[in-house]
Amino acid sequence: MAAGEGAPGFPPDFLAELRRRTDIVALVGQRVALRPSGREMVGLCPFHEERTPSFYVSPERQVYHCHGCHAGGDAIEFLRRARGLSFVEAVEELAAQAGLSVPARRALDPAERRRLDELEEMRAALEAALGFFRDSLVRPEGREAIEYLRARGVDGPTAQRFGLGYAPGDWDGMGRALGGRFEPAVLEAAGLRVPRGGGRPGAFDRFRHRVMFPIGDERGRIVGFGGRSLDPAEPAKYLNSPESRLFRKREALYALAEARPAIASKARAIVVEGYMDALACHQFGYPEAVATMGTALSAAQAGTLARLAESVLLAYDADAAGEAAAERAGGLGLLQERGVRVEVAALPPGRDPDEVLRGPGGPRAFEAAVAGAIPVIRYLVQRAIGPGGIAGLSPERRWAVAKRMVPVLLRCDAGVRIEYTEWIARALLLAPGELQRAVESAAGGSEHRNSKRWNASRVAGSRGRPALRSGAEAAEEMVLAACLQSAELFRRWIPGLSIHDFRSGAHQALFERMLAWHEAAAAAEPGAPGLPGAGRPPEPAEEPPGLALLDRAEDAGVRSLLARLVGRDLQAVDGVVLGQCVRRMRAAAREEELAQYRERDRDLAASGLGLESAERRAVLQRISELTAERAGFARGGSDG
Ligand code: UTP
Ligand code: MN
Repeated sequence: MAAGEGAPGFPPDFLAELRRRTDIVALVGQRVALRPSGREMVGLCPFHEERTPSFYVSPERQVYHCHGCHAGGDAIEFLRRARGLSFVEAVEELAAQAGLSVPARRALDPAERRRLDELEEMRAALEAALGFFRDSLVRPEGREAIEYLRARGVDGPTAQRFGLGYAPGDWDGMGRALGGRFEPAVLEAAGLRVPRGGGRPGAFDRFRHRVMFPIGDERGRIVGFGGRSLDPAEPAKYLNSPESRLFRKREALYALAEARPAIASKARAIVVEGYMDALACHQFGYPEAVATMGTALSAAQAGTLARLAESVLLAYDADAAGEAAAERAGGLGLLQERGVRVEVAALPPGRDPDEVLRGPGGPRAFEAAVAGAIPVIRYLVQRAIGPGGIAGLSPERRWAVAKRMVPVLLRCDAGVRIEYTEWIARALLLAPGELQRAVESAAGGSEHRNSKRWNASRVAGSRGRPALRSGAEAAEEMVLAACLQSAELFRRWIPGLSIHDFRSGAHQALFERMLAWHEAAAAAEPGAPGLPGAGRPPEPAEEPPGLALLDRAEDAGVRSLLARLVGRDLQAVDGVVLGQCVRRMRAAAREEELAQYRERDRDLAASGLGLESAERRAVLQRISELTAERAGFARGGSDG
């Protein structure tokens, strides 16, 4: 989480120099027997068990990548992983080998130094706020909050372990407790105080009369808070810290640090929606639970889980589970692409895990829901069939449901795809061969449409990967790879793209980071070292943005995708080729969205909604917008 804040504060020039003086082939060669294979070296991956070599090192690009386990990175990352070092330790060791002295990390340029200092201040303020909330809980004013927690069945050890606290009801308690130690600007940046605004001076406490849930990052460092109102009349039941450099709700997972050991030992994560759900799970014997805090699983959250767990169990209440699972481009797709098994627990309708665990059936009822979990594909099919059962559906309708599952099937690992295809066909009373052919032609058809160039780059880029890639996905890869390898293309193309232009969840997650990096660079003074500054003329010696991003990516999934794309062999990529790629991927993304909206419209129509209903009008409106946009791309219009 807080990607980019893992930046260790080394001057980027130093890291670039370190990379120039380090030979990754020699470094890897100390541990792995390598032999030449084309322009690369190949050997047995040191990071997973394998008998046939799929671990490639590129002398040219100075990166490694394993096609088996998708580990990847540069020399620093290799040393870090191979020896379990921190980033700083790995840098120090490589510098010693290269005869470079490590610059004092204070010797940062002032802007970067200021950013890091501010961040430390924000962390310190959040820590202090945590102490204040915890103290307030056990003081007389915390009585109501204690009563509340007791009434909801949260036991003492759980409250302690998760650092629960109380934000007093007055407007200035936090201000009085922390105002002496922190600048007002720091308390505001940390989201603890809110400026009065309207030209009036001063600020007030953001959280008032609430039970406070501290939210930590993967290592348990506090990044923000959620607060539940104790006043039933208060419209905002939960209030969270605002987005900041530390707190990004879409990246954070509540209870992750507490859950990590259990996720590792069970190789499974349970994903719930709410704070109370996560607490109840931990208290009743499911310490592998984390919460998304009310939003659908994002690509960033999924990336974190994919790195830690082999399977993910969604324990949302029935409505939310349906919506979450139907979410196509988000985190679920990414989990499937990474081969993580995704299952949906069968919770009783309208009940969340907290209610089930504390309900009349107790933990047994929850265990039954967990034991009865079904693979997400089955879940989607059953949902599409609906409560009326298969008997009531026409053959056309059954075939329509089957076709809707094709993109989901395409995302699955090839190893399980056939089995799921057969299962879906059986469940829908269709001949398996027909659906099999539809899946194959969706996978293969998009390949035939590609030029030779695409097929060649596909082979180079995804050697040994069983997953089928569509032409549009190859185009997404090409655009990202080109922008990662060239600072100039990065500056020119990234700001014109949008997350909606990408369909793969992994690509979306990476693109989000690239965009953030671009924004950070544009905000920094032009010419700040290592940043692709907005007004700076391109220099041939400029480091590829991909490597700078690698230095900062904390998420292993993002790292390995980065390494693969930085390591891709791109020949003759220019603005024209990129323009074609962008049109192709945009058209495909709009096409997919269009299909979803058409489907939605059919569902609405089937459920008896007429053209005059507001919902259908909104859907039809979007359909006509998308159709127009798609026609624009087909004509070769806007290039971004
Ligand atoms: P729910 O509304 O499902 O509530 O929100 P809950 O968790 O069951 O709450 P209780 O049991 O009534 O206390 C699920 C999660 O969505 C986020 C919170 O993380 C909450 O736990 N949420 C909800 C918000 O961030 N803001 C809100 O206003 C509501
Ligand atoms: Mn609840």
